[in-house]
Amino acid sequence: MIIASNSENCFSLSSWSHNKEDPHFATQQDVFNDLGQSCLDNAWKGYNVSLFAYGQTGSGKSYSMVGYGEDIGIVPMMCKEIFRRIEEQDKTGDGSVTFRVDASMIEIYNEQVRDLFNPSNNKPGGLEVCLITK
Ligand SMILES: Nc1ncnc2c1ncn2[C@@H]1O[C@H](COP(=O)(O)OP(=O)(O)OP(=O)(O)O)[C@@H](O)[C@H]1O
Ligand SMILES: [Mg+2]
Repeated sequence: MIIASNSENCFSLSSWSHNKEDPHFATQQDVFNDLGQSCLDNAWKGYNVSLFAYGQTGSGKSYSMVGYGEDIGIVPMMCKEIFRRIEEQDKTGDGSVTFRVDASMIEIYNEQVRDLFNPSNNKPGGLEVCLITK
């Protein structure tokens, strides 16, 4: 179950993916369309964007954000879409725009920020976000 809220702190959508046979079943693509697509669109316009997954253990944060096996989640879908858009722009544009993609991956666990790309970077007490590996 995913419940998303808007900036006024009202819940704006919910999706449910317990039983594939159910007509209300939400696929990973549905979740991406509802949440990931608008984040990507805004990032593409130059805004800083964050998508925060919060919930009790086993509630589906990793499943929705990263995915398992072929059932990929929001992050790999976003990455595919970023490079698809870059390729498209490279083909259709006049070459005056260049793209640079940086990626970091952090986890907040027990209230501490951890660098998932370079675990040796982690120190007791957690990291400041500016020190995270790109
Ligand atoms: N939408 C879904 N469809 C099918 N299976 C799911 C779905 N969401 C979660 N699951 C399954 O439920 C289990 C727990 O999900 P997940 O690992 O994503 O939880 P989590 O919120 O990341 O937990 P933790 O806080 O412990 O990391 C996994 O086996 C996952 O495959
Ligand atoms: Mg998890």
